[in-house]
Amino acid sequence: MREPTAAQPPLPLCDSRSLEERGKAHVWDVLEYGRPARAFVLRFDGALHAYINRCLHVPTELDWQPGEFLDSDRRFILCSIHGATYEPVDGRCVSGPCGRGKLKAIQVDEVGHQVHWYPSPDIRPAPEAGTSLASRP
Ligand code: FES
Repeated sequence: MREPTAAQPPLPLCDSRSLEERGKAHVWDVLEYGRPARAFVLRFDGALHAYINRCLHVPTELDWQPGEFLDSDRRFILCSIHGATYEPVDGRCVSGPCGRGKLKAIQVDEVGHQVHWYPSPDIRPAPEAGTSLASRP
């Protein structure tokens, strides 16, 4: 059975005041194509940008400490494994072994002090701890 393609309603994610300019990201659990994955959102040049936390070189998480994605100059997203760098505003690989691809983006917004993310047919909320996937609608 195919997943619905209609836009999914936004879900609350975190307090936007916790996302400082070029600071630590908020990381959360999602299901990507039904499999557990992690996502992150950070603030760069005033705007929020969110991606699946997975390098294009080897499918591993990028952050060198939990929530720490930016390089020492706070200019690029840096993969902690082999040093691939990505443009924070669009996820495009700019150097290193990540090729011509982009990090997989997730739509987010902020209303007042609340950050929301938008599930899609590919990326859905992870089940709450203690619930099974089978019980989710
Ligand atoms: S795993 Fe990210 S650069 Fe190799």
